[in-house]
Amino acid sequence: GWTIGNFIELEIEKIRQEVGDKQVLCALSGGVDSSVVAALIHRAIGDQLTCMFVDHGLLRKGEADSVMETFVGKFDMKVIKIDAQERFLSKLAGVSDPEKKRKIIGNEFIYVFDEEAAKLKDMDFLAQGTLYTDIIESGTATAQTIKSHHNVGGLPEDMTFKLIEPLNTLFKDEVRALGSELGLPDEIVWRQPFPGPGLGIRVLGEVTEEKLEIVRESDAILREEIAKAGLERDIWQYFTVLPDIRSVGVMGDERTYDYAIGIRAVTSIDGMTSDWARIPWDVLEKISTRLVNEVDHINRVLYDVTSKPPATIEWE
Ligand code: XMP
Repeated sequence: GWTIGNFIELEIEKIRQEVGDKQVLCALSGGVDSSVVAALIHRAIGDQLTCMFVDHGLLRKGEADSVMETFVGKFDMKVIKIDAQERFLSKLAGVSDPEKKRKIIGNEFIYVFDEEAAKLKDMDFLAQGTLYTDIIESGTATAQTIKSHHNVGGLPEDMTFKLIEPLNTLFKDEVRALGSELGLPDEIVWRQPFPGPGLGIRVLGEVTEEKLEIVRESDAILREEIAKAGLERDIWQYFTVLPDIRSVGVMGDERTYDYAIGIRAVTSIDGMTSDWARIPWDVLEKISTRLVNEVDHINRVLYDVTSKPPATIEWE
């Protein structure tokens, strides 16, 4: 029968056969799929694998460091980290349309990857974390295509790599089991879904560093409190969003005029439909208190109680 153990053995053999003494490049995003692919291929060919991690500055708090800690610190892999925050921010300046933002982020990602990959010599293969479901879904018009998902299949057309996609027969739960077996930390294996455009679509409207900071900090507090309450596995996805709303408040005896922050937390099977998570009120109370006390420029907290449909999970 099929087991993770013999899947690993068979795939390692296949990868070694295919790659021989050639070099493999892999784009690491911090997500489950690319992480598992990198770990699997590294197990097979060690230093013949080079990973590239483009930090677009739209990741969650601590995420870039934790990717480096895991892959360089723990696995001792070759990872090239590209700090492209400034580049993405300047491209996003003045843009507030959600689809335009997605396109800019997706395209910029390809340009950066392309440019940096061209600097590396002798890369023959490109490893990708394509799953079985990605293959099926890309052939059909699912509700997901209502929003363009530029992190899927977005590769420079003139690249001459041969593709390696060792996960393309697997479902998500099998990929998680594989990741655990390969020694990846739970934080990666059980990472909640996170959109390719990252926090760029959770700052509604124009993206600025100040607003990104508010979303990053508030999201970190939300995650901390959800973890403390032991709700991590019960809630499918949870995050904060920054609508472009400022309202009046009072802090001490000062009038404030600052941002409202939204909390989005949903239960779902596959993201196609969802319900809003019934987070216990005492947990919400803690989150709300911490958000206004600890995050600069927030004086009001909103909780999104809309299902999908008619709302989407993300606000953009
Ligand atoms: P929506 O907002 O469409 O989201 O209900 C459904 C799921 O997809 C994620 N999502 C994205 N993922 N690129 C991605 O890789 C995107 O542009 C994107 N937009 C939404 C969302 O986080 C949720 O899990």
